[in-house]
Amino acid sequence: MLPPLGTALITGASTGIGATYADRLARRGYDLILVARNQQNLETLARRLRAEAGIIVEVMRADLTDASSLKQVERRVCTDPKLAMLVNNAGIAGPALLGEDPEVIESLLLLNVVAATRLACAAAAVFVERKTGTSPVQEICTLGSAWGDEFKKPRSLGEGTGAKASDNSEAPQRATASRLVSTIPRA
Ligand SMILES: NC(=O)c1ccc[n+]([C@@H]2O[C@H](COP(=O)([O-])OP(=O)(O)OC[C@H]3O[C@@H](n4cnc5c(N)ncnc54)[C@H](OP(=O)(O)O)[C@@H]3O)[C@@H](O)[C@H]2O)c1
Repeated sequence: MLPPLGTALITGASTGIGATYADRLARRGYDLILVARNQQNLETLARRLRAEAGIIVEVMRADLTDASSLKQVERRVCTDPKLAMLVNNAGIAGPALLGEDPEVIESLLLLNVVAATRLACAAAAVFVERKTGTSPVQEICTLGSAWGDEFKKPRSLGEGTGAKASDNSEAPQRATASRLVSTIPRA
């Protein structure tokens, strides 16, 4: 029997690309923690994935622009021994900042920058510390970000995600048994 893959925590899993990630990872056998604000959407998706894939799915309702909710999710990332992957997907795609309501700009920064960075750092620290975890690969996926020469070797994620991914497996994270994958959605 194959060893369990562990749990993937997906932010922004209630709709769009995050929900597609949830579906694809469920089919591969990952248990899931689905994070977003819309509890009804999360519960509907969780029910379907439990029934179709026979996996464990937990719903965590959280507004990641809210400091205490973010800390709860961060704590889960730091303490869940089964966590094998973080999909850092929750985000607001590009309103023109010029002339935008300052509150909207602040929310965008809190979600796209503060929450994404804190969760990525928390997961990276856990995966690096764990080194010989139960999962063969421990990953952090970020959406809408591109680092350095990532663009040189994009490969299609396929399966209808409408996104391209590049795997920076040469990056230093590799040496510490974790892997960063940046996904660059096609608008
Ligand atoms: N689609 C594109 O062409 C494109 C292009 C560039 C970048 N991206 C990036 O790719 C990611 C996914 O895009 P998408 O098109 O799938 O976006 P989407 O359909 O708008 O979904 C965004 C997800 O983030 C969640 N979310 C939004 N605000 C949140 C908050 N404050 N706290 C927690 N969750 C929150 C939403 O759920 P709730 O409303 O339930 O909270 C939803 O599940 C985003 O980061 C986006 O910026 C997308």
